[in-house]
Parts: sequence; structure tokens; C-alpha cells
Amino acid sequence: MNDAAAFVDEAVRKIREQVPGRAIIAASGGIDSTAAAVLVEKALGERARAIFVDTGLLRAGEVERVGEFFRASGLRYEVVPAAEQFFRALDGVTEPEEKRRRIGAAFIRLFEVEAARFETDRLVQGTIAPDWIESGGSIRDTIKTHHNVGGVPTDSKLVLVEPLRDLYKDEVRTLAHHLGIPNADRQPFPGPGLAVRVNGLVTPERVRRARVANAVVEEEVERAVAAGRLARPWQFFAVLLPARTVGVTGDNRVYGEAVSVRIVESIDAMTATAMDVPRPILKAIAERITRELSGEVVRVLYDITDKPPATIEWE
Ligand code: XMP
Repeated sequence: MNDAAAFVDEAVRKIREQVPGRAIIAASGGIDSTAAAVLVEKALGERARAIFVDTGLLRAGEVERVGEFFRASGLRYEVVPAAEQFFRALDGVTEPEEKRRRIGAAFIRLFEVEAARFETDRLVQGTIAPDWIESGGSIRDTIKTHHNVGGVPTDSKLVLVEPLRDLYKDEVRTLAHHLGIPNADRQPFPGPGLAVRVNGLVTPERVRRARVANAVVEEEVERAVAAGRLARPWQFFAVLLPARTVGVTGDNRVYGEAVSVRIVESIDAMTATAMDVPRPILKAIAERITRELSGEVVRVLYDITDKPPATIEWE
């Protein structure tokens, strides 16, 4: 994409071609689906409706924040509460690809219901190039089935519309700035949400721990960036590990869980470098996570692995 204005004109033309009637948009509040939603709103106006699913796997404060982004972007949207469905779909599942498939299917079943209510069969998704490349969409092996690619059940009648399919993340950022989207510089957050940041079983309790730990990492990194103590990383988050480990609180032995902190630099998420974060920032993160999850999380690790050989998310 060399020219954002020309890309917008062409995308609007194509969307009108692909959507003769109405469409719903799978809108997560992330930059990709918000950019797709704004393009569709331009093309279809009131014939489009953004659907934001509260999966119960979102970060702290996300539902309120996303509502603000959508209002500021001038989108018509609805929030669908669905935590129960997602926890039921994930019950007993630990294998990462199986988690992604179940989440993808749960999303599609929900969108089928919403599409029927809005009298359409068109579903707009903010799929971008790395999503389908890493899902094995070209000659590559499947690295991760992105929830918006491999999770679509083959029996679904929904017709997908993907206006950002050929763009990379840095191009989406340029486009989002051009479209005046207020969250254009937000760090990426995976569609399957905290489910892929909870290694092992996904229970409401473990998701709550991951949510608290993620909020601490975000707040401490934002604070360090604002104070000029750290360059803005590409992504910064916490992962709840499937390991139990011994700690001590006061005089008491605690057999708790462990969290790994991941802070990476990248250009387009295809490769990434574990950031060399000053020790005091990491210490502050570890101290807060173990205090705010006292008796639950007793150990905090820092992940120093680049991509490759690791991926950015753990699952
Ligand atoms: P990995 O972990 O494969 O991630 O190095 C590359 C980038 O993609 C994000 N990610 C996802 N985004 N749906 C998304 O929309 C997904 O299923 C998904 N999985 C990973 C990840 O956060 C990173 O920015």
C-alpha cells in the first residue's frame, strides 16, 4: 500500500461490490478490525453493524475502552455478552490449536446468530496478511491458526469480506492514522484473548490472574515510556504458566503459580526481539504482580527469547 487515500477508495468500491445488502462486522476493538469497520461504514453506512463480543477473555477495562473507540470512530455497534459460551467451549482444553479452533467456532456461531438478526449473510473481518500466512494460507506450515482464519467451520453459510487481507501491520497503522482512528498506536492483542495467555486450562479464576498480571505489565511499561525510561515496545504482556511453584508469604509456604513477562520489539510481528528492559522496571512488575496476586502467583520470569525461534504469544 503506497497511497492510503487510493487504498480507501479502492476498498470502498470493492466492499460495495461484495456486499449488495447489509453486513455485520466482527469488531474486537483492535486496530485491524476497527480499520476494517471504518472502511465498511464508509462504504455501507447504516447497512453495516459492528458486533463486539465480550468473550470473558478480554483485558481489564476493555469493554468500556472499546465502546469509546467505536463512538469516536463514528461506528454503529452492539456489544454481545458471551463469557459463558466461551468458557464452556474451552472447558478441559489445553492444546493451543484446539483452543484456537474452539474459540474460532464459538465466534462464528455467535456471528451467525447476529447476522440472522441483522438479516444478512455477510461477515466482515479485519484479517491481515500475517494472519493467513501464519495459519498456513500460503506455502508455509501452520504456525498458529489465527481465530479469524482457521476457526471458521466449513458448514457455515456466512460469506466473509476481508478488506485488509493483503496488508501488513505497519500498513494497517498507516491506514488507521489516515482514517483518524483514535487507537491506531495500540499494541496488538490476539483475537483469542487471554485464553492464549493462560497456558494450560482456561478457567475464570486463571483468566482473572492473567488479567491482573497483564494490567500490571501494561501500566508499568506505559509509566516507563511516559517517563522516558523505555522506548515504546511493540508488545508487552504477561502469560500465566501451567507450572506450580513454591513461594513464601510472611511465615507461610504457598504453592502458587508462575507468570512470564514478555516485552518485544518488532516491525511487523513476523520477527521480534526480546527487549533489553532496565532491571528496575522488571523488578517493579514482579513486585506488583506477586503483591496484587498474593498467595496465587509466587514467581515472575522474564522471557528473553526472540522470534524466531519462539513466537510472540506463547500459544
Ligand atoms: P505470534 O505469536 O504468532 O503473533 O508471533 C504474531 C502477532 O499476532 C498476534 N496474534 C494474533 N492476532 N488473532 C489475532 O488477531 C490471533 O489468533 C493471534 N495470535 C497471535 C500476536 O499478538 C502478535 O502481535
